[in-house]
Amino acid sequence: TKVHVLNGPNLNLLGAREPGVYGSGTLDDLRRRCEPAAAAAGVDLDFRQSNHEGELVDWVHEAGRDAAAGVTLGAVLNLGAYTHTSIALRDAVSGAGLPAIEVHLSNVHAREPFRDHSHLAPVAIGVVAGLGPDGYAYAIDALARRREHSTR
Ligand code: DQA
Repeated sequence: TKVHVLNGPNLNLLGAREPGVYGSGTLDDLRRRCEPAAAAAGVDLDFRQSNHEGELVDWVHEAGRDAAAGVTLGAVLNLGAYTHTSIALRDAVSGAGLPAIEVHLSNVHAREPFRDHSHLAPVAIGVVAGLGPDGYAYAIDALARRREHSTR
C-alpha cells in the first residue's frame, strides 16, 4: 500500500520561489518531510510534481484506480494555482472517487482574494492550509487514521 502526494505547478521552484511565503525548503525537503509520516503509516510514498494540468488529471485517475484496488490510502493534493482555476482537476477527483486532502503550504485565506476560492475543496475530505510542510505530514496521518477507522 502507498500514499500519493501530488504537487502542481510551480512547486518545483520551492526554495527559490517567494521564500517569505513558501519558506526556504525545496521540493526535495518537502518529500523528506513526508517520508516519516508515510513510514509511520506503514505505506510507501508516491511523491510527484507536475506543471501540467492534464498530467495531474492522469495522475489523479491513476491514484483513483489504486484507491479502488485498495493499494493507496488516497492522495494529498497541493494543486497550486490549479486549486483556484481547475474544474477539470476537481472533476478528476470526484470522477475517480479518490479520497483526497487538499493542502497548501501558505494560508491561502490570508492572501489575495483570488486564492480564497477552491474548486477542489468541495470534493476533498478536508483542507490544510498555512502550516507549511508539516501540513503534508498531518494530511498523510489523517489518511492513515481514516483507514484505521474504516477497518474497525
Ligand atoms: C499554494 C497556494 C496557491 O495559491 C499557489 O498558487 C501555489 C501554492 C500553497 O501551497 O500555498 O502555487 O498551493
